[in-house]
Amino acid sequence: MTPDTAEAKPHERLAAALADELEAVNVLIRERMASENAPRIPEVTAHLIEAGGKRIRPMLTLAAARLSGYEGPYHIHLAATVEFIHTATLLHDDVVDESGQRRGRPTANLLWDNKSSVLVGDYLFARSFQLMVETGSLRVLDILANASATIAEGEVLQLTAAQDLATLEDTYLKIVRGKTAALFSAATQVGGIVAGASEERIAALFTYGDALGVAFQMVDDLLDWTGGTVIGKNIGDDFRERKLTLPVIRAVAAADTGEWAFWVRTIGKGKQEDGDLERALELLQAHGTLESTRLTALGWIDTAKSALDVMPDDPLRDMLRDLADYVVARIL
Ligand code: IPE
Ligand code: IPE
Ligand code: MG
Ligand code: MG
Repeated sequence: MTPDTAEAKPHERLAAALADELEAVNVLIRERMASENAPRIPEVTAHLIEAGGKRIRPMLTLAAARLSGYEGPYHIHLAATVEFIHTATLLHDDVVDESGQRRGRPTANLLWDNKSSVLVGDYLFARSFQLMVETGSLRVLDILANASATIAEGEVLQLTAAQDLATLEDTYLKIVRGKTAALFSAATQVGGIVAGASEERIAALFTYGDALGVAFQMVDDLLDWTGGTVIGKNIGDDFRERKLTLPVIRAVAAADTGEWAFWVRTIGKGKQEDGDLERALELLQAHGTLESTRLTALGWIDTAKSALDVMPDDPLRDMLRDLADYVVARIL
């Protein structure tokens, strides 16, 4: 399947439309992930970056800039910045989540160790700051620095909410907005800003990125239960880590006495046995919470798509809307 055909997935069509710029982003990423002084750095970064990844966030920046009429060079720097921030958070996230698989490969923490993942993640963060400084825009720096802080807050909030069966949906939303949507909305916003878009359009790009990011994480949380092997990550990580994701919060809220005892044992106390993951999945299915989470994600997708009404009528706008649909459709 080539990216130009009608069957190509929306993110592949977007990648085809932005092919030259995306290649420039990849060249810049490869150039900046190297380090002559510490060979462990290119080993780890190459392992993760060469494995690909969907490149959704850099494409959002490129598309937002182009849709806003940008013709200069700095959207390339911003797209690479965003992907570096993302990659740094993945290195740290896999340590925190004790994950063993990422992008279809063993994680860096498994192949090397936690220390290397944390330190190389820090290196990538620092490299991302260097890249964004090159744009010379303080407003862009402000947004990306805020997003980096917000991501860390989201991850820490999640850490303290894990295992707590009293976690409510508003806490979940705060976590998701922090750990995932903050970077999506920063990615789209800075694309508009570098292009000198109107405040109305910058706000619309923010809303699109924010809502898309929320839906994206909700779907990622569904795929943690149902994704099988296609996602390039192990399933059941969230249950093992005792995370209260939306389908679980809703199943806990609907639990009868026996089910409540099950959640207290497996998530509250972390005493998990063989067969518990399957039993948990049955409970989510019995209470329809995978489906209701999907519907909630679809609501966010509607918000994302309508936000683009104020953007120019352009094939890129259609592709961004198709991408939004696909974020939820990829479950099926
Ligand atoms: C993974 O993001 C982290 C989440 C926010 C769920 P992606 O699914 O975009 O990861 P890659 O870059 O394609 O591997
Ligand atoms: C990813 O969170 C968010 C960040 C990397 C900050 P998850 O832990 O839910 O993502 P995956 O499932 O490991 O990709
Ligand atoms: Mg994780
Ligand atoms: Mg995590």
